[in-house]
Amino acid sequence: MKKVLAASALLATLSACALLQSPPAPALNDNELALPADYKSWPRFLPPVNRTDVKQIREIYVNPTGHSGSTREGGFPYGTQFVMEIYSATPNADGTLAKGNLNKVFVMGKDKGWGVGAPESLKNGEWIYSAYLPDGKPSGDNTGACRGCHLPLAPKDFVARYDEYFDKRAK
Ligand code: HEC
Repeated sequence: MKKVLAASALLATLSACALLQSPPAPALNDNELALPADYKSWPRFLPPVNRTDVKQIREIYVNPTGHSGSTREGGFPYGTQFVMEIYSATPNADGTLAKGNLNKVFVMGKDKGWGVGAPESLKNGEWIYSAYLPDGKPSGDNTGACRGCHLPLAPKDFVARYDEYFDKRAK
């Protein structure tokens, strides 16, 4: 009888522990990473990118995990997220760009086991992609296109402006 009591006490303790432990975060796929509410308070990844070729200004933020946990040698850690705002822009007479409306907000994030649902030929490590309109609704962009364009950047952890970022940080 004593043994049974001890065993059930142990079981109760074990299940209480299981309840206290937060469940593992689910592994996400494309379009499942929400637009982070607080990204404007994150560090700037780089100064705004002026894309005169496509008449856009792009403003890129990186979350504190990605900013403080990344190294040029090791790339970006699990938990990194990037947000890129895409503004339309009109050329000024002097060749600079005048910033127009915000059109889209692109999000890119990486964590353990993410992106398993992506086609094998378009796997970008464990990075996933989401795209939003300025009001936060999904923009409907095809994330296969994101993957196709970022795929050749595999040696740079799939991040386009990798070298520029680490060059800037080294200064
Ligand atoms: C035509 C190629 C192309 C496509 C398609 C593309 N990207 Fe990018 N992406 C780039 C380039 C190049 C940059 C660097 C900024 C620049 O030069 O405009 C970039 C930068 C980014 C960044 C900032 C971090 C970095 O890599 O420097 C994020 C976030 C991002 N893209 C997300 C997306 C998402 C989400 C999609 C799909 C909805 C997407 N991209 C589609 C080429 C592409």
